Amino acid sequence: MKTAKSSTAATTNHERERRARAALAAALFCAFALYIAWHASHESNSRPVDELPMSTARGDDTSTPIADADKPELIKRGAYLARIGDCVACHTADPGRPFAGGLPISTPLGKIYTPNITPDPDTGIGQWSDTDFIRALHEGIGKGGERLYPAFPYVEFTRMTEQDMLAIRAYLNTIAPVHYTPPANELRFPFNQRWLMILWNLFNFNEGRFVPDPKQSAEFNRGAYLVEGLAHCEECHTPRNFMQGLKTTERFSGATQAGWQAYNITPDRTSGIGNWSDDALIAYLSTGIAAGHASAAGPMADVVQHSTQYLTHEDLRSIVAYLRALPPVSGGVTRPRDAWGKPAVNDITALRGTTITTVSGLQLFVANCASCHHWTGEGVGGSAPGAYPSLIHNSVAGAPRPDNLAMVILHGVRRQTKDSDVLMPAFGDALSNEQVAAISNYVTTQFGDLQATLTAGEVAALRAQPQ
Ligand code: HEC
Ligand code: HEC
Ligand code: HEC
Repeated sequence: MKTAKSSTAATTNHERERRARAALAAALFCAFALYIAWHASHESNSRPVDELPMSTARGDDTSTPIADADKPELIKRGAYLARIGDCVACHTADPGRPFAGGLPISTPLGKIYTPNITPDPDTGIGQWSDTDFIRALHEGIGKGGERLYPAFPYVEFTRMTEQDMLAIRAYLNTIAPVHYTPPANELRFPFNQRWLMILWNLFNFNEGRFVPDPKQSAEFNRGAYLVEGLAHCEECHTPRNFMQGLKTTERFSGATQAGWQAYNITPDRTSGIGNWSDDALIAYLSTGIAAGHASAAGPMADVVQHSTQYLTHEDLRSIVAYLRALPPVSGGVTRPRDAWGKPAVNDITALRGTTITTVSGLQLFVANCASCHHWTGEGVGGSAPGAYPSLIHNSVAGAPRPDNLAMVILHGVRRQTKDSDVLMPAFGDALSNEQVAAISNYVTTQFGDLQATLTAGEVAALRAQPQ
């Protein structure tokens, strides 16, 4: 919500704020170091792996004990669950080597490379026992007892049942082993000290399985189990505290992820998605398009492509039922981001015969964008599949901060789903920061939130965000 509200907060300020936070976190880590070292040496290694009876924790009752004859069924379920957890997106750097890791994840503390989770015995997790595997996902502890970094979403995965994890493990065992060692992490001191995560966990991690709320429907509980757990929506949509832990008081109210705004998805009618119908939300998660509201670009395009498009209708309905029941968080805006804009009328005629001497957003828009989005902004091809979308009533054009608009111009849109392959070209190489700012300001003035303006400096900062 904070991210969505401060409409023109300069990105450079964020950078400074980020550095200050990192420094503060470092200081705090060091101050507690001795205490924690003591704590660690006295900590018992044995912990109950699962505290809840499975049928209670799952939020549904389809679980049965695993017999050998059920193996194909188990693997199939594991494949589906791995989709929901989006394991492949983070653990794949080269599409030819799925699950072999090596993808750099940029964090404020430095770069973390994802490990190889194929069954290769030397470089993957082939030698891990099921208990090792479960401990990693439930507790964020690696095979050698080392602490894992929370760039691995164990903060959410901890809520999963042991049975669902074993299904994922059974599926991962069927993946072709890949012999590949990802590069070493590039983390600054003191963040390269894994044991410091004990301290981080103390403040930011609640280990424990999902507990269904008996006052809520089975549908809600299934949605909560998925969204708060395996699907880890909060990794992007919940703002973080100075230690980079999730702010539990502002859940789902929006946050920034690699330069992209993961919007407020609470049911607030103006700041969130309270004005979307259930069907619009389901369409968004299964295709990436909710006509008249939004389409999915950047990290959300990846989520739709690798994960949510594969969800069953029942699971999508459950997710929606859960999102609907969240406490609404107001970001202080007065108009929903998908309720802005009207078709451009006279602008194009104004261009005729004029000599343009400055960087003109209108001219740049007509030259670079109008072939697909039409000079009126209404798009081309209407609602037919493969049509180019309208920029009117689009959450990216109407957001109070135009970061995603600039990111879409810089990086384009790429989203492959079962029924379409969506492509908007990237303009990052062709356009200067000044030109991107000019187009962005033209788009927000014409089709979006009039208050949302961007400077060339802000575009430069967004361009510098590693993707
Ligand atoms: C948001 C990115 C992300 C997603 C999604 C993700 N992981 Fe990971 N995972 C990581 C990172 C980063 C690490 C390494 C953490 C570290 O080095 O401390 C990791 C570590 C692991 C490890 C420990 C491996 C080792 O060698 O130490 C396992 C096991 C694992 N992940 C399994 C999974 C499974 C199963 C899923 C899907 C249910 C999944 N991960 C989804 C980012 C991710
Ligand atoms: C890797 C980060 C990431 C994860 C994980 C993620 N989101 Fe998003 N989400 C985003 C970003 C970024 C956007 C904005 C996309 C855009 O600008 O096109 C977004 C947009 C959305 C929107 C549209 C909001 C609007 O007004 O345009 C919805 C709804 C949504 N996400 C729901 C979810 C749900 C449900 C999950 C979990 C299943 C989830 N997201 C997981 C990053 C993420
Ligand atoms: C070759 C056709 C093409 C061109 C040229 C083009 N776009 Fe797009 N644009 C698309 C497609 C396709 C999408 C994605 C539609 C979807 O997500 O389903 C898109 C999406 C968008 C979105 C919505 C992103 C979101 O997450 O909701 C915005 C905003 C946008 N374009 C702005 C621009 C601007 C500004 C320019 C000029 C710099 C431009 N486009 C040029 C085809 C194009």
